[in-house]
Amino acid sequence: MRLPPGFNLVSLEKVDSTNSEARRRAEMGASAGTIVQALEQTRGRGSRGRQWTSPKGNLYFSIILNPNCSISKCLEFTFITSVAMCDALAAKVSPMTEVSVKWPNDVLINRRKVSGILLESANNPNGLLKWLIVGIGLNVVSFPKNTEYPATSLEFEGTMDSVRDNTLELFLRHFKRWIDVWENEGFSSIRQEWLSRAIGLGQQVRVKISENQYEGKFIDLGSDGSLILEIASGETVSVLTGDVFPLDVT
Ligand code: BTN
Repeated sequence: MRLPPGFNLVSLEKVDSTNSEARRRAEMGASAGTIVQALEQTRGRGSRGRQWTSPKGNLYFSIILNPNCSISKCLEFTFITSVAMCDALAAKVSPMTEVSVKWPNDVLINRRKVSGILLESANNPNGLLKWLIVGIGLNVVSFPKNTEYPATSLEFEGTMDSVRDNTLELFLRHFKRWIDVWENEGFSSIRQEWLSRAIGLGQQVRVKISENQYEGKFIDLGSDGSLILEIASGETVSVLTGDVFPLDVT
């Protein structure tokens, strides 16, 4: 595999979680650009405390970064990452296959979740990031069947060229490109790119936050990465976390 400059790969057979291993290595001084990849995870972690089932055959990796920014801005990496993964997958599927993003951290093929992103960070006493871990799971050959939002895999969607190594390299090239855009132009450009790939924009969505549910029209992505909804009263509300379920079928 030919990694883009600035990245180095640590390949493991099996680990508890590549995010946990990347954290341990970051704490031990591993440099930014280190990627921890494993063929299998025994305690893969998803967002909001969920489990990420991680059998052999799919792609699991975590990238250590050290962007020179505050902890509040690191959320922007969710959107950089999902746009990059969206572009990498779009290059692998047929032109008739829809690849999109769903707020806040999902990448979809034909409206089913194929990839998820888990960000973890630690900061220095000065408020700047000490390290940022961008963890990514991509369903290559299998996917969980019992999820509230439907999942899929590259193989299920007929993406025959589902070679893991090639996808990682492709992703990293797009990732680096979008980080450059973020550094040069700021989050506003990433926000526009993410919106152009988002499902549910302009449509009614349901947002689940723990036990609570809200419905409204998804009208925008805030400059802080929040989901902006117009609710029945006509008011605008900004949501910072939750799971989104589009209600309209287009
Ligand atoms: C989500 O819930 O959508 C986020 C899933 C993130 C899973 C990846 S797999 C590689 C890395 N290691 C983990 O334990 N989690 C992330």
